[in-house]
Amino acid sequence: MPSSDADISRHQHMPRYYAQRAKEYERVFDKPHRQPDLARLKLWLTEQFSGRHVLEIATGTGYWLPAATAQALSWLGTDINPEVLDEARAKALDFNKVTFRLADAYAPGIVANGEASPFDAGFAGLWFSHVPMSRQREWLQGLHSQLQPGARVVLIENRYVEGDSTPVHRFDAEGNGYQLRRLSDGSEHEVMKNFPSEARMQELLAGLGQDLIWRELDYFWTLSYRTV
Ligand SMILES: C[S@@+](CC[C@H](N)C(=O)[O-])C[C@H]1O[C@@H](n2cnc3c(N)ncnc32)[C@H](O)[C@@H]1O
Repeated sequence: MPSSDADISRHQHMPRYYAQRAKEYERVFDKPHRQPDLARLKLWLTEQFSGRHVLEIATGTGYWLPAATAQALSWLGTDINPEVLDEARAKALDFNKVTFRLADAYAPGIVANGEASPFDAGFAGLWFSHVPMSRQREWLQGLHSQLQPGARVVLIENRYVEGDSTPVHRFDAEGNGYQLRRLSDGSEHEVMKNFPSEARMQELLAGLGQDLIWRELDYFWTLSYRTV
């Protein structure tokens, strides 16, 4: 849990920051030097979800969706902010199989306790880095509870690249990092952002995931595994 009242208010601020950023969010993907990584990731996502029924957490504006949904059988994208899902709905997607729903990543509540899950895959892009260290395992367990046993889980995250990533300007008592980010209206936001290592992910997934495959690109890492 957040370790002080100040940290609690910052965690609560994070969703509002992304609502405010919805219209300008995808500018972050314009950086020319990141294009080779982004192209590789899109191809890889198409393959990962081919023939799958996918639950996505924290969909945002749906940047990955044209590629990720291309060969999927069905896709449910969820996010806490309607503003970002409106951007995703404006994309050229096959809405016969792609649907969206408002849901909190920490309590998706899509599949009720004891109900059979329709999802044989789960995806979260650039979300895990915003989960506080003390809630990371809980969040993974919550995601798995929504999926079939043996489902494929795919995470994509930023690597911290000195001189390119937004600097982490402080850490809180439990070790979460915080960045200062500015939006085009001049407002400044402190956003929690963690950069877990492969070893940390292995430790977190002990007993929860199997067949882990970790890959590092220049600016991103990916992890895919099966739920136990
Ligand atoms: C960095 S964006 C990632 C968006 C997208 N997955 C991508 O890769 O571009 C983080 C997203 O998390 C969403 N978010 C923040 N708090 C959330 C929560 N508690 N539950 C669900 N989504 C949340 C924000 O609205 C935002 O769309």
